[in-house]
Amino acid sequence: MSNILVIIANPNPKSFSFAMAEAFTEEKLKLGHSIESIDLYRSEPKQDFFTFDKANRVQSKEMDHYQSKIIKADEIVFFFPYWWGSYPAILHNFIDWNFSKGFAFKYQNSLPKGLLHGKSVSVFTTTGAPSFYYAITGATRRLKNTFKQQFVHFCGMKLTSFKSFGGVDTSAKKPLKILAQIRKIAKH
Ligand SMILES: Cc1cc2nc3c(=O)[nH]c(=O)nc-3n(C[C@H](O)[C@H](O)[C@H](O)COP(=O)(O)O)c2cc1C
Repeated sequence: MSNILVIIANPNPKSFSFAMAEAFTEEKLKLGHSIESIDLYRSEPKQDFFTFDKANRVQSKEMDHYQSKIIKADEIVFFFPYWWGSYPAILHNFIDWNFSKGFAFKYQNSLPKGLLHGKSVSVFTTTGAPSFYYAITGATRRLKNTFKQQFVHFCGMKLTSFKSFGGVDTSAKKPLKILAQIRKIAKH
C-alpha cells in the first residue's frame, strides 16, 4: 500500500480541481492506500510569499511540517487549473519553500543532484480553452516538460502521469467523463 500526498492549488473549493481530487482520493482509499491532502489556499500552517531574504533563511517550522509530508509520500499528486500557461502562484510558492536545496536537491561538482528518489509524481490540470488549441500551440507540452525536467527530475523524482483536460470551466456542468477517467487512472 502506498502513502499518497494530494496537493490541490485552487482557491475555489467548488472547482473542478477539487472534484478531480475527490474522485481520485475515493478510488485510492477503496484500494487501501493512505492519503494525506494539502489544500494550499486553506491548509495550516500558511507560508508567506517567498522573497529574496527568505531564500537564505534557516529551516522554518512550516518547512519541517510540509517536508515531513513530502518525505513520507511514495506518490505526490497535484491538482490545479492551468493559469496563464502555468500553474497557480501559490503552488510555485509551495515548491519554492519546501523543495529546498539540501532537502530536495543538492549541487555535486557544480551539477544538480536530486535527493527525493523513489517518489512518483502525477499531475491533473484543466484548461478553459479546448485541448486541441494547446496541442496545436504546444503550450501543454511546454508546461509538462518544464514541470518534468525543472522540478520533478531535478529533485530526483519520476513523473508517471501528466493529464491536461481542456474546455473545463467552473461555470459549466462538471464533465462526468473526465471524472470517470480520473477514477480509472486512480485504480492503477
Ligand atoms: C487567473 C486565471 C488564469 C487563467 N489562464 C488560463 C489560460 O492561460 N488558458 C486557459 O485555457 N484557461 C485559463 N484560465 C481558465 C482556467 O484554466 C479554468 O477556469 C479552469 O481550468 C477551470 O477549472 P477549475 O474549476 O478547477 O477552476 C485561467 C483562469 C484564471 C482564473
